Amino acid sequence: MQLNGKTALVTGGTDGIGAELIRQLRAKGATVITQGRNAERVTAIRAAGFEVIAADLSTPDGAKTLINAVAGRTIDILVNNAGAGVDHDFREAAPDPVAADATIFLNLDAPIHLICALMPMLQSRPEAMIVNVTSGLAIAPRAGGPVYCATKAGLRSYTQALRAQLKGSKVHVLEALPPVVETKMTAGRGSRKMPAAECARQFVTAMESGAAEANVGMVKLLQVVHSISPALARRIMIKF
Ligand SMILES: NC(=O)c1ccc[n+]([C@@H]2O[C@H](COP(=O)([O-])OP(=O)(O)OC[C@H]3O[C@@H](n4cnc5c(N)ncnc54)[C@H](OP(=O)(O)O)[C@@H]3O)[C@@H](O)[C@H]2O)c1
Repeated sequence: MQLNGKTALVTGGTDGIGAELIRQLRAKGATVITQGRNAERVTAIRAAGFEVIAADLSTPDGAKTLINAVAGRTIDILVNNAGAGVDHDFREAAPDPVAADATIFLNLDAPIHLICALMPMLQSRPEAMIVNVTSGLAIAPRAGGPVYCATKAGLRSYTQALRAQLKGSKVHVLEALPPVVETKMTAGRGSRKMPAAECARQFVTAMESGAAEANVGMVKLLQVVHSISPALARRIMIKF
């Protein structure tokens, strides 16, 4: 897809991968509308010249706030990037099921609500794209994050079915699978993290090329291992 002249709605553009992505899309000539929740970060991204809608996407009302704010606007690209993961580990403390619900809504329900609301607009455009940001953990889970991994595996499955439904239409469906990236989400976790700008660069390359998946960094290797031995991929990732 030619990004120049397109309008993209990118959720979670106030920090991390999303904040790099909105800058790179703008540099390609796209108009970007983004969304965030933290007031200070929303203000900072507005000061950088972006249109930012404040909404908490972990609830149906929050998703509705964003949907209402963009109703009637021309949108060619929807990037479902906002996401979070709280660990849910019975070996450490009794996990909070309410926190699990919020994670499930943010990572899985909100993208579905946005896709449903924006589909008529996307289908009316000469060419359009839906980008769902999942994770290498959508391929095989790690033990400490069963809720996060389940949401990402769910979004991966949804994305694959959506792609089949929209095959041959003007709406392209891309799944973006980041590896471990240096953002606040992975603070204190692991080493050898990919810089967020490089991850966003690989998303943009995949958006321009019309690929079905952006398997970023180590996720490429994980896909190869998984294609040869899903059991081996699960054994590697479960300890992550
Ligand atoms: N970092 C990684 O290693 C990694 C790996 C695989 C997949 N991913 C996926 O990549 C995407 C971006 O992650 P990231 O690492 O860039 O995360 P991040 O740095 O924590 O940024 C997340 C973005 O989503 C927004 N967000 C978080 N919770 C929200 C909520 N309840 N309602 C509305 N917006 C919310 C944040 O806004 P506020 O700051 O305003 O809250 C921020 O703009 C996520 O879908 C994540 O699952 C990340």
